[in-house]
This record gives sequence, C-alpha cells and structure tokens, in this order.
Amino acid sequence: MPLLARISERSTGLFHLSLALFLFLAAPAAFAQPDGKKLFTGNCASCHKVDKDFTGPALKGAQARWEGKGDIRAWVRNSTAVINSGNPYAKELFAKWKNVLMTPQALTDEEIDAIFAYVEAYVPPVPKGPAAPVPGEAPVDDNNWIWLVVLALLFLVVGISLAGVKRGLNNAVREADGLEPEPELPRIVRFRRWAWEHKVFMSFVGLFIFVWLNVKAWDALWVIGVYGGDEVEHYKPEQPIKFDHTLHAGKADKGNLAINCQYCHSSAEKSKHAGIPSTNVCMNCHKAVSEGRTPEGTAEIQKIYDAIGWDGKEFTGKENPIRWVKVHNLPDHAFFSHAQHVAVGKLECQECHGPIDEKMDVAEQWAPLTMGWCVQCHTEKEVNMAGNGYYDEIMARLNEDEKLGHRELKEYLEDGKITVRELGGLECAKCHY
Ligand code: HEC
Ligand code: HEC
Ligand code: HEC
Ligand code: HEC
Ligand code: HEC
Ligand code: HEC
Repeated sequence: MPLLARISERSTGLFHLSLALFLFLAAPAAFAQPDGKKLFTGNCASCHKVDKDFTGPALKGAQARWEGKGDIRAWVRNSTAVINSGNPYAKELFAKWKNVLMTPQALTDEEIDAIFAYVEAYVPPVPKGPAAPVPGEAPVDDNNWIWLVVLALLFLVVGISLAGVKRGLNNAVREADGLEPEPELPRIVRFRRWAWEHKVFMSFVGLFIFVWLNVKAWDALWVIGVYGGDEVEHYKPEQPIKFDHTLHAGKADKGNLAINCQYCHSSAEKSKHAGIPSTNVCMNCHKAVSEGRTPEGTAEIQKIYDAIGWDGKEFTGKENPIRWVKVHNLPDHAFFSHAQHVAVGKLECQECHGPIDEKMDVAEQWAPLTMGWCVQCHTEKEVNMAGNGYYDEIMARLNEDEKLGHRELKEYLEDGKITVRELGGLECAKCHY
C-alpha cells in the first residue's frame, strides 16, 4: 500500500506546514511590524499633534487631504523637493504654515504607512475609571494577541485531527500488511512521543512562545518611554475653571506669581494626598484680585465667585462647588504616599509632575505612573541620609543586622550608594495592598 503510506506521510507534512505557517504569520505580528506610535513620537511629535494644529498641521486626515494631489510619502521624506517640483498643494501648504520647513524624514514606505495608521486610529486618552485593574487581570491594550490565540487554537484542532487521520491511515496500512492496529494510547502520551520525535521543531515553538511572552510582559510593565518628558501620552482634561499653574506657581522673574506649591497643596508634606485647594484658598487673593490678564482671564475669575457665591461685596450663600477633574489616578491596588516622598524622600514635586510651573497652563499627567516608572526611580535614586532623622533608625537596624551576621552592609551598598531599593522599596507589599 505505498499510496496510502504516502498519503499518511503527506498528512504529517501538512501538519508541519500548517504549524510553520502559523509561526510565519505570528512572528511578524509580534515583532516586525513598524510601530506607528513610536515612530510618530520619535520623529513627528516635536512638530505635529495628531488632532490639533501645532508647529505643523494636525496629522489626522492628512492622507485624505493629499488624495489626488501628490505623493504624501515623498512629502514626508523630503518636503522641499515636493515644493520645488511645483506641486500646487505643497506650495500652498508651505505658504500657509508661514514657510516653516518640515525636516526631511528618512523613513521607509512601511514606516510612513504605520505612522498614518497610528494617527488615523488614534483616540484621545480617557481617564482611568473607578474600575481599576486588579493584579492578574491587567487590561490588554491591543487585540493582536487574541487572534494569535484563536489562530493557535485553530492550528491545534487541525493538528489533532490530522494526527487522527494519520493514525487511521497508519492502521489501515498495518492492517493491509497483516499487522495488529497500533495500541490506543492516551492523547498526552502520543503528544509527548510526537514532541520527542520533533525535538528541534518543538524547541523553536517553545523559544518563540517564551520570547513573545517576555516581550509582552516587558512592554506592559514599562510602557515604552518610561521617563515622562515628551514620550508619554499626557492626560490633560479640561477643567471647570482655566486655572493656570505657570501663572500662579511659575518664577517671579518671568512675570509669574511664584506661589509655593504647598500653599495650595498643603497636605503633600503630611499625608498620602497632596490635596486640591478649596475655593476659600483662591479667595484669599481673589477677593481682591478680580481681574485677570485678559478679558477671558477675568471671566474665569468670575467663575470662582459663582462657585463660592460672592457678589463682589458679600457672600450670597448660593454656592455651586467647583468640580475639578482628577488628572492623576493610580489603580486602587497601588499605594502611594506624598508625605513619604516629599517629607521623607525630600523630592521636588517637579521630579514626578514635570515642569508644571514652567510650561503647563493646564495641569497634566507628566509621568506614566506605571510600576516600571516607580521601580526605575527606586533603583536609581540615591537617598540622602545625612541629617535626615528618619533614616537613623533604619541605619541602626541595618548595622544591627550586620552585627548579627545576617547581611553585610556592603551588600546593601554593592554600587556604593543607598537607593530606595536598599531600604526595601522594591518589596511588593510596600506598594500593593
Ligand atoms: C521640524 C518640524 C516638523 C517635523 C519634525 C515634522 N513635520 Fe510634518 N510638517 C511640518 C510643517 C511646518 C508642515 C506644514 C507645511 C510646511 O510648512 O512645510 C508639515 C506638514 C506635514 C504634512 C502635510 C499635512 C497636510 O495637512 O497636508 C504631513 C503629511 C506631514 N507634515 C507629516 C509628517 C510626518 C509623518 C512627520 C514625522 C515622520 C513629520 N511630518 C515631521 C513640520 C514638521
Ligand atoms: C494657587 C493654587 C495652586 C498652586 C500654587 C499650585 N497648584 Fe497645583 N492645582 C491647583 C488646582 C486648583 C488644581 C486642580 C485644577 C487643575 O488640575 O488644574 C491643581 C492641580 C494640580 C495637579 C493635578 C492634580 C490631579 O488632579 O491629579 C498637580 C500634579 C499639581 N497641581 C501640582 C502642583 C505643583 C507641583 C505646584 C507647584 C509647582 C502646584 N501644583 C501649585 C492649585 C494650585
Ligand atoms: C496668592 C494669591 C492667589 C491665589 C491663592 C490664587 N490666585 Fe489666581 N491669580 C492671582 C493673581 C494676582 C492673578 C492676576 C495675575 C495678573 O493679572 O498678573 C490671578 C489670576 C487668576 C486667573 C486669571 C488668569 C488669566 O489668564 O488672566 C484665574 C482664572 C485664577 N487666578 C484662578 C485661581 C484659582 C481657581 C485659584 C484657587 C485654586 C487661585 N487663582 C488662587 C493670585 C492668586
Ligand atoms: C515621587 C513622585 C511624586 C512626587 C515627588 C510628588 N507627587 Fe504628586 N502625585 C504623584 C502620584 C503617583 C500621584 C497620583 C496619586 C494617586 O492617584 O493616588 C500624585 C498626585 C498628585 C495630586 C493629585 C491629588 C492627590 O493628592 O492625589 C496633586 C495635587 C499632587 N500630586 C501634587 C504634588 C505636589 C504639590 C508635590 C510636591 C510638594 C508632589 N505632588 C510631589 C507622584 C508624586
Ligand atoms: C523620582 C523618584 C521616585 C519615584 C518616581 C517614586 N518614588 Fe517612591 N520613593 C522615592 C524615594 C527617594 C523614597 C525614599 C523615602 C523613604 O526612605 O521611604 C521612596 C519611598 C517609597 C516608599 C516607601 C518605601 C519604604 O521602604 O518604606 C513607597 C511605598 C513608595 N516609594 C512608593 C512609590 C510608588 C507606588 C511610586 C509610583 C507610583 C513611587 N514610589 C515612585 C522615590 C521615588
Ligand atoms: C515602587 C512601587 C511598586 C512596587 C515595589 C511593586 N509594584 Fe506592582 N505596581 C505598582 C504600581 C504603581 C502599579 C500600577 C501601574 C499601572 O496602573 O500601570 C503596579 C501594578 C502591578 C500589577 C498590575 C499590572 C498592571 O498592568 O496593572 C501587578 C500584577 C503588580 N504590580 C505586581 C507586583 C509584584 C508581584 C511586585 C513585587 C515583585 C510589585 N508589583 C512591586 C507599584 C509597585
């Protein structure tokens, strides 16, 4: 029965082919796709916003605007060349943006397409709601993996049924050759046998899954571009009153009021929360200061009066409290204390909140607030112990520990400096309830 034998052989071949195809399809999805978001933030975000005009026009809809008017990819790579070629739309665009030149971008077609795909799919971030993620149930940011799993299951089913077919054919061959049919072994034993026969192949599959899981876990914890600055999606909700941090807290030599952060966020030193000031705090000054720098500013100050019920001479009793929109929102399972960082750690507010007093007319979330961000600072930030009474007790404990021979102090100081890590700042329970 050479024919049947050949069919049987081919069915294993088919199985291999399908698995190979799976890997071939899955691998580029996980690794090779150019990352439009990264490319956008790295190359374009200094001049372009997705949905607002900035130094250059909003990029959303740009592809549609170029439809039939020229090659948008050529423009991105070298806008001057397109302008010089006499393209009327390009010339008009250049004139409209006050002859600001866009820097040439050395990108491939795929990369440019990925940028536009990201731009077109972009939706502005929304606040994390009260339903905070629970450990182990982290929300997944893209659906890529779902179809990978579906595909994997599909191939598994195909694989199992093909294996069944193969066994059937094998038995037919054996029967024709006058042999007993193969004994019916449990599926797991058959699989183990099969896997052993295909060691090399299986190690590739294993390696692939291992690497893929690691890449995913790494991304989830760190989120690309950990350290604030311009790489992070800055959440910046509109507030009921346009309160300007730069004007109130910015430096006096720049014409600002230089009010200390803690004048308004007075509990930062002593409690978990920094707190949002009550309207009374605004009224300490705004009872007298009823005019802003512009008519719009004056109208905003009027909103303070409406909120607290002040008619310019006396309180009317008609209050309508301001509902500030929360900007920062750690999930419920994470514990963060301002007092620990401000009073004990002696950190400046700006190390975590960015240049809020220099260039944030609207308060925004500057740092990513991911676990990776907390942990990165805890492993790098040197703790200044000198003259900080809080640490005397800890140092005494470490020294005691050393005397008892448990740990060497040197161990804490392997790189010659004491960071938050050495004080136990990487222990899960310190940050998780
Ligand atoms: C140095 C600033 C700068 C950078 C960086 C920059 N652009 Fe521009 N871009 C501009 C300006 C300014 C214009 C308006 C046209 C002009 O003045 O040349 C523009 C126009 C455009 C347009 C045409 C928009 C329309 O409405 O038709 C596209 C598309 C574009 N840029 C894409 C990109 C992409 C993609 C990147 C990143 C790979 C990028 N730009 C990086 C400044 C920049
Ligand atoms: C005159 C009072 C005042 C001063 C001074 C002030 N703030 Fe604020 N701050 C507010 C008010 C009101 C809000 C809520 C409205 C908003 O988010 O813009 C706020 C919001 C914030 C937020 C966002 C809070 C959230 O919802 O997550 C941060 C962060 C912040 N301030 C930090 C600072 C820092 C850092 C300084 C000093 C450089 C400072 N503030 C100085 C009044 C003040
Ligand atoms: C320590 C004094 C002080 C406190 C406290 C204060 N402000 Fe002001 N604020 C001022 C002064 C002074 C101006 C006018 C600035 C100018 O004309 O140069 C002003 C201006 C403003 C403006 C108009 C801005 C513009 O663009 O013209 C708004 C809105 C405002 N404050 C809101 C608030 C709110 C809301 C609070 C409370 C959370 C607050 N301020 C607390 C002193 C203060
Ligand atoms: C080590 C980083 C760090 C430092 C330093 C820091 N903050 Fe925060 N801040 C955070 C985090 C994280 C949150 C979010 C907390 C949450 O959602 O529970 C936050 C939230 C806030 C809020 C929102 C309201 C609240 O209390 O949760 C305000 C206002 C604020 N910070 C002001 C300040 C001021 C003012 C200072 C300096 C005196 C300061 N922060 C220093 C990390 C920091
Ligand atoms: C910019 C640096 C920085 C960032 C970012 C930061 N921390 Fe810290 N953290 C410190 C320093 C410095 C201390 C040391 C204070 C001390 O000795 O307790 C500290 C201490 C702590 C402690 C007390 C540790 C102990 O051993 O008692 C906790 C809990 C903590 N941080 C949580 C967080 C969380 C949660 C985040 C992220 C939301 C965060 N931190 C982000 C610098 C940082
Ligand atoms: C320095 C503070 C800190 C320490 C130490 C820490 N975590 Fe976290 N962890 C956080 C913060 C903050 C978040 C919330 C991050 C977010 O919402 O993106 C978080 C989130 C998580 C999540 C949910 C993941 C997600 O994407 O929401 C898990 C699971 C987790 N931590 C486990 C651990 C384990 C296990 C340890 C000990 C090995 C640990 N954490 C130590 C601060 C910390």
